[in-house]
Amino acid sequence: MSTPAGTTPEGARNEREAAQWVRGMFGRVAHRYDLANHLLSFNIDRYWRSHTVKRAHEILARPEARVLDICCGTGDLVLALAKSGKPILGSDFCHPMLVAANGKIAARRTAAVVFESDAMQLPLRDASLDLLTVAFGFRNLANYETGLAEMRRVLRPGGMAAILEFSTPPNAAFAALYNFYSRRILPVIGGALSGSRDAYTYLPESVRKFPRAPELVEMMRRAGFAEVGFEYLTGGIVALHIGRVR
Ligand SMILES: C[S@@+](CC[C@H](N)C(=O)[O-])C[C@H]1O[C@@H](n2cnc3c(N)ncnc32)[C@H](O)[C@@H]1O
Repeated sequence: MSTPAGTTPEGARNEREAAQWVRGMFGRVAHRYDLANHLLSFNIDRYWRSHTVKRAHEILARPEARVLDICCGTGDLVLALAKSGKPILGSDFCHPMLVAANGKIAARRTAAVVFESDAMQLPLRDASLDLLTVAFGFRNLANYETGLAEMRRVLRPGGMAAILEFSTPPNAAFAALYNFYSRRILPVIGGALSGSRDAYTYLPESVRKFPRAPELVEMMRRAGFAEVGFEYLTGGIVALHIGRVR
C-alpha cells in the first residue's frame, strides 16, 4: 500500500477539501467529543496523554520551556502538559473545539492559551519552541510532509516533537480483534453519542490508511528530525513517536 500524502476523507478531491471536511466533521462532534473519547477508549486515552507528558518531562523541566500542542482539540493534552506549571500554548483550526478547550482551561484556572491556526501554517517564528506535541491530530492533516516540515521549522535546536497517534497493532490476532471493535462497534456507539456516524466511520478508515509506526519514523527522519524513535502503547493501538532537533 503506498503512503497517501495526507488524510483522504471520502469525497474529498484535494488537500483543501480534505482539510475542510476534517474541520467540519470535528465542528459537528465537538460538543460530545470528550464523552465519546473517554467512553470509546475505556478512559485509556487519559493514560496515553499522561504518558506523553512523562516522556516530555526533560523538556518541560527547562525553566523557560516554550511548548505548543497543535491540533489541541478540546485541550486535554494542553491541560495535562500544564500540570508541569509551564505556560502551555494550544492551537487548532476548528473553532467549536477551541471553545470547548477554553471552557476547560478557564474552569481549571490553568496558565494555558489556545489560538486558532492551521497546523500546516503556524503563526510562529522559526526555531521558537522547545516542545511541540500532537495527540490524535497528525493523522488528520491533509499533507503529512508539510505538517512535519512545519513542526521541524518551529522547533529550536535541542527541541523535541512528540506525535501520539493511533497505529496498527503489530500482533496480527490483536490487530484483527481491534479492527473488529473499531470498524463494527465504534461507529455505532460513537455515532449514537455524537449524532455523527460519519465521524466514527472516518476514524477507523483514517487509521487503516495511516502509515505504520516504522514508516512514520522514516518520514520524521526525512523531515530533518534526529534520534527518532517510537513506542507502542496498549498493544500498538496507539504509538508515541519522538523526534529531536539538533
Ligand atoms: C482527534 S482530535 C484530537 C484532539 C486532541 N488533541 C485530543 O488529544 O483529544 C483532532 C483535532 O485535530 C484538529 N486538526 C486536524 N487537522 C488540523 C489542521 N490542519 N490544523 C489544525 N488543527 C487540525 C481537529 O480540528 C481536531 O480538533
